[in-house]
Amino acid sequence: MPVETAPSPAQALRAFDDTQWQDGPSSALEALVEGGCVLHFPKLAFELLPHEQGFADPRWSDGRAKNISLRAPGELRGARGTPEELRQLQAMIARFALQAEQLVHRLFPGYRGKLRAGNASLRPFEIAGRETSWRKDDTRLHVDAFPSNPTRGLRLLRVFSNVDPAGRPRQWRIGEPFADFAASFAPRLRRPLPGAARALHLLGLSKALRTPYDEAMLQLHDLVKADLDYQSRAPQARVDFASGSTWVVFSDQVLHAVMGGQHMMEQTFYLHPDDQLAPDSSPWRVLERLLGRKLGVPSGRA
Ligand code: SIN
Ligand code: FE
Repeated sequence: MPVETAPSPAQALRAFDDTQWQDGPSSALEALVEGGCVLHFPKLAFELLPHEQGFADPRWSDGRAKNISLRAPGELRGARGTPEELRQLQAMIARFALQAEQLVHRLFPGYRGKLRAGNASLRPFEIAGRETSWRKDDTRLHVDAFPSNPTRGLRLLRVFSNVDPAGRPRQWRIGEPFADFAASFAPRLRRPLPGAARALHLLGLSKALRTPYDEAMLQLHDLVKADLDYQSRAPQARVDFASGSTWVVFSDQVLHAVMGGQHMMEQTFYLHPDDQLAPDSSPWRVLERLLGRKLGVPSGRA
């Protein structure tokens, strides 16, 4: 099946009528999401139960991490509270993780048995005015790539839900298609120093050995965030995700920035690019074609 042609930022958002996580009209959206669309479900809400309403509050954070996260084996990180409160917080995030899984199984039948769930998180902090370094500043357009968490080319598929009790939108910007963005920055990409990936891994600074793909993606992430001219002039569209809505995106592919909002749930899934409908649209393959060299082999197939 052909992948949809890459959309302009204004066309990247596609809305669907689903109201339920497990059942609904939408299915077989692999081509759209692989083509760089943001799948938007304005009527699909993650409902907080009555006793969970108070969890949309930064006070449950331990102050060290910017998210409260549930690791895949069920371990809660970054939260503080009594054992009973922590149990309820964990149950809430686990319910989101389950519903996100039900949703992706329905939307992407072609990925069944191939997606691997990563962390789920509650993100309780206000975005606007948050103090951070330019490299961690997600109000700048970027594709996701993390120094300590190399993906080695595995795809990052993310499900987000705005759960703001005050009803404010999560405000994003969406940028140009990955291939255009990568082509304009490719001349500035530098090959890593021999041995650098192994040294970082041995020092515990990267959880897995980075491949040349990870090096290229981290450079793209930093180059685009540091380029203020690109940030203001590049093609982009503003999108508001209302409280009570959900959206799904390959965040390693779609240029995105978050400008405002508070209280969001998120679940990450990993997918091997060879398990895509069209592996050629993966950032790994796009970058290999652009740079004319091999960028390592993705590993960790679910
Ligand atoms: C991100 O840049 O991946 C974070 C998006 C958000 O917090 O809305
Ligand atoms: Fe991001």
